[in-house]
Amino acid sequence: MDPAGSLRSRGLAAFEGLERVFDAAFGSALNPLRHLGALGFLCFWLLAVSGIYLYAALDTSVGGAWRSVDELSREQRYLGGLLRSVHRYAADAFVIVTLAHLVRELLLGRYAGFRRFSWLTGVPLPLFVFACGIGGFWLNWDQLGQFSALATAEFLDWLPFFASPLTRNFLDAASVSDRLFSLFVFVHLGVPLLLLFGLWFHIQRIARADVFPPRALAIGTLGALLAVALAAPVMSQAPADLSIMPGPLALDWFLLFAHPLAYATSPGLVWALFCATLLFLLALPFLPRPAPPAVAKVDPDNCNGCRRCFEDCPYAAITMGPHPNGKAGRQLARVDADLCASCGICVGSCPSSTPFRSGARLLTGIDMPQLPIDALRRRLEEGLAALRGERRIVVIGCDHCAPVDRLAGGDVTTLSLICTGMLPPSFVEYALRGGASGVLVTGCEEGACAYRLGTRWTKERLDGAREPHLRASVPRERLATAWLPAGDDRALAAALDEFRRGHG
Ligand code: HEM
Ligand code: SF4
Ligand code: SF4
Repeated sequence: MDPAGSLRSRGLAAFEGLERVFDAAFGSALNPLRHLGALGFLCFWLLAVSGIYLYAALDTSVGGAWRSVDELSREQRYLGGLLRSVHRYAADAFVIVTLAHLVRELLLGRYAGFRRFSWLTGVPLPLFVFACGIGGFWLNWDQLGQFSALATAEFLDWLPFFASPLTRNFLDAASVSDRLFSLFVFVHLGVPLLLLFGLWFHIQRIARADVFPPRALAIGTLGALLAVALAAPVMSQAPADLSIMPGPLALDWFLLFAHPLAYATSPGLVWALFCATLLFLLALPFLPRPAPPAVAKVDPDNCNGCRRCFEDCPYAAITMGPHPNGKAGRQLARVDADLCASCGICVGSCPSSTPFRSGARLLTGIDMPQLPIDALRRRLEEGLAALRGERRIVVIGCDHCAPVDRLAGGDVTTLSLICTGMLPPSFVEYALRGGASGVLVTGCEEGACAYRLGTRWTKERLDGAREPHLRASVPRERLATAWLPAGDDRALAAALDEFRRGHG
């Protein structure tokens, strides 16, 4: 019994349940839970754009800050005031999507192996998000800003690093100065720049990272932020006054929850919680785990240097170098084993992966040692030979989606790939010419592919929009596709039934 494992699988089941609810509401392609990283980027850019306007209007002095922001809200209700509210709500949304992205990747176990880099560069990012957000409240210099600045100083003072307390040196009525304000500005402008650098670093090892949400989702998110901003405009609280204790405050619980937590418990406890969480997250990729599967292997004799695998690899694990055959300009693909996700998508890209090639053993330019293309062709031929009757259906699917092997028998033979993106489209034609009456290709729905791009590339290859493409002469009425939720046997069985009905 592994309590941590069972907790994670229960968490994952709950998260997947929530994803289903969102799928029903938004459709899987626009499900925000499938675009959390991209929504994080959207929040960042909304904050940057609205922030530039706010900064232009801000008087960065102790005496003028509160007045300048308050005037903005009152005198420019539908411009400066609206932007101020959008700025605040986008910051709240940034916290929510960042933490949801972290939890999703954690529950999906995406922290080790080839994802270690993305994970380790992601862990510090929420800290930057919180630092930018909390610093924003200080610039406003109302009683909430005063409370947050004092609470942060007291929290930092708990550490034994400062010779004299920050609360006394910077934040008493006598010492609050314009210089302190310059520090606030530096935190609120400097940390976002560091965050931007961190974000760039975070997606370095991800090819074609999903940094823009689909247009409808981006417009919907902006619309939702504007609606909240109009319905509940953000207004300043009373001006800061360090000679009095702030009265009851309207707290922003998303960004400032640590302050009441530290007061309700103790700064020491909050520090302990924070350090334990950070260490846990940083240690995860180094915990012992089963040996990773074999990585893609290039065969120089069958690689013509066409670069398709290099273009399609979702994790930038392939580079192109000179071919050892010495022919001028000829290139050879190379796989970086540390980056390779063992997804097989490159096998589907390779023009040499066609089953129509002669030769007792099918060889290709790049192959997966655990599921070579030759074994796939053999399984397909044997499966077709075993089928009797008029209706002979081939169902091709993937190990991460709804399991196709359970459908085998009767009028169906199946092929389960590591990822549907591993499928060279010519296999469809080969199956039809080899006696199949129809081919059903299944895989994970949009945004849910375990290897990010498998579904997208397969759709494009079958539609003729990406190389290698399915030939135009292949009768499309004998091919169907079904993009399904992971593990959804019922949806898979329904897709097969529908396909059968169309095939007499
Ligand atoms: C400011 C916050 C963050 C933003 C804007 C962000 C953004 C992104 C984006 C755009 C991707 C690429 C998604 C894709 O193309 O499929 C990504 C991937 C990833 N992120 Fe983040 N991220 C953030 C924070 C984090 C955090 C806190 C973690 C976890 C500690 C994390 C872990 C990962 C992992 C593991 C991947 C790789 C997913 C995969 O290989 O399929 N990220 N992130
Ligand atoms: S198996 Fe996947 S990650 Fe590895 S090289 Fe091929 S496409 Fe890239
Ligand atoms: S797709 Fe095949 S032939 Fe083209 S570069 Fe990659 S391994 Fe070589």
